[in-house]
Amino acid sequence: MRPRRFLPAGPLKGRIRVPGDKSISHRSIMLGALAVGETRVTGLLEGEDVLATAAAMRAMGASVERIGEGEWRVNGVGVGALLQPEGPLDMGNSGTSTRLLMGLVASHPIHVSFTGDASLSKRPMGRVIDPLSEMGASFEASEGGRLPLIVRGASPAVPITYRLPVASAQVKSAVLLAGLNTPGITTVIEPVPTRDHSERMLKGFGADLTVTVEADGTRIITLKGEAELKPQVIDVPGDPSSAAFFIVAALVTPGSEIVIENVGLNPTRAGLVEVLRQMGGQIEFLDEREVGGEPVADLLVKHSALKGIEVDPAVAPAMIDEFPVLFVAAALAEGVTVTSGLDELRVKESDRLSAMAAALTLAGAGIEEREDGLVITGTGGAPLPGTTGDARVTTHLDHRIAMSMAIAGLGSRDGVEVDDTRPIATSFPNFEELLATLAG
Ligand code: S3P
Repeated sequence: MRPRRFLPAGPLKGRIRVPGDKSISHRSIMLGALAVGETRVTGLLEGEDVLATAAAMRAMGASVERIGEGEWRVNGVGVGALLQPEGPLDMGNSGTSTRLLMGLVASHPIHVSFTGDASLSKRPMGRVIDPLSEMGASFEASEGGRLPLIVRGASPAVPITYRLPVASAQVKSAVLLAGLNTPGITTVIEPVPTRDHSERMLKGFGADLTVTVEADGTRIITLKGEAELKPQVIDVPGDPSSAAFFIVAALVTPGSEIVIENVGLNPTRAGLVEVLRQMGGQIEFLDEREVGGEPVADLLVKHSALKGIEVDPAVAPAMIDEFPVLFVAAALAEGVTVTSGLDELRVKESDRLSAMAAALTLAGAGIEEREDGLVITGTGGAPLPGTTGDARVTTHLDHRIAMSMAIAGLGSRDGVEVDDTRPIATSFPNFEELLATLAG
């Protein structure tokens, strides 16, 4: 455990750049590893989760090398040519690595044992086991469809049409990645749109993939199997989920004005900015452009008087990882913020509804925990009291709980004591350094 007390700070000032997008980083290594020839990636997130993906692809035959800061070279084996790894693949804390790689393995003639840390070993894998079983793969999972588990790939796998029962980009991506080495057409029907990085990148690598949007917004994604992927040059934009912590930090700290450069603003990820603007947050997009096939801008964020709102549950998939830090913003806003439709938050790296309810309550915020959301009564801009004595926020091996409560510490009177900052390295290794830069 590495505890730390996050103290209140003066105005945040300056320009920063957050590390590369985690979702895009995982996918660039996986697809690079399936394309014959050299894929070059810049701006790759070098967090533990992505490094777990890199190690796994190496174990299955690809060459994945770091050549400089955020600069990587991947030489792929080709779709259908993943090798049998010699030992179990340790996925650490990473749900994305696990679920997407289960998809890849499912249509290759190999069997792979997946293990992970205590947090990952509690997370449900049945949501990918179900469709991948229909495609012909077989599984030996721990109780409740959890890790450790073994996947035995099918060869050939069977193409399916799968309607997503949960709004999950990981499930969608697992099926599409399995579809790459499956003869025929694999179809995913997505009633509620989720992040579309897999679709964008599969097209970029030359896969035959189509997306049709129906009148009610349902997306139908088809992928032609036995694909041949072509190596690419990929520039990974900054992660909006990492930028989120500094957006909220600047909004709630009086006198702040910061610029966060090169932030990915894919519409399937940009829900937090929309919600914070509805709350009165001043967030401007500067120099809007495209990086690596994704919309990007520099964000100018200024301290703002935030007001509580009722958050439309329809926006949830576009900001699913940003709720912990939104709860912090709400705790410092004026009035009541009501969130609902957030059942999925209970199966992330931790149960984020109960973890954030407990953490913010400990820091003195007014929180009511409901089955599918939190109701938060804000301080109206006054600092939260903070944690006292030996009391420590429990992060439950969840990076986003640790970082959100660090921001709550900035907005507190006495500081917030977090029990363990180590999980931050899974997605944002230089978070504490950037926080110190801005707080000057
Ligand atoms: C991710 C999808 C989301 C998100 C996770 C990354 C991805 O998970 O929470 O951090 O890269 O596909 P779900 O698919 O479980 O919603």
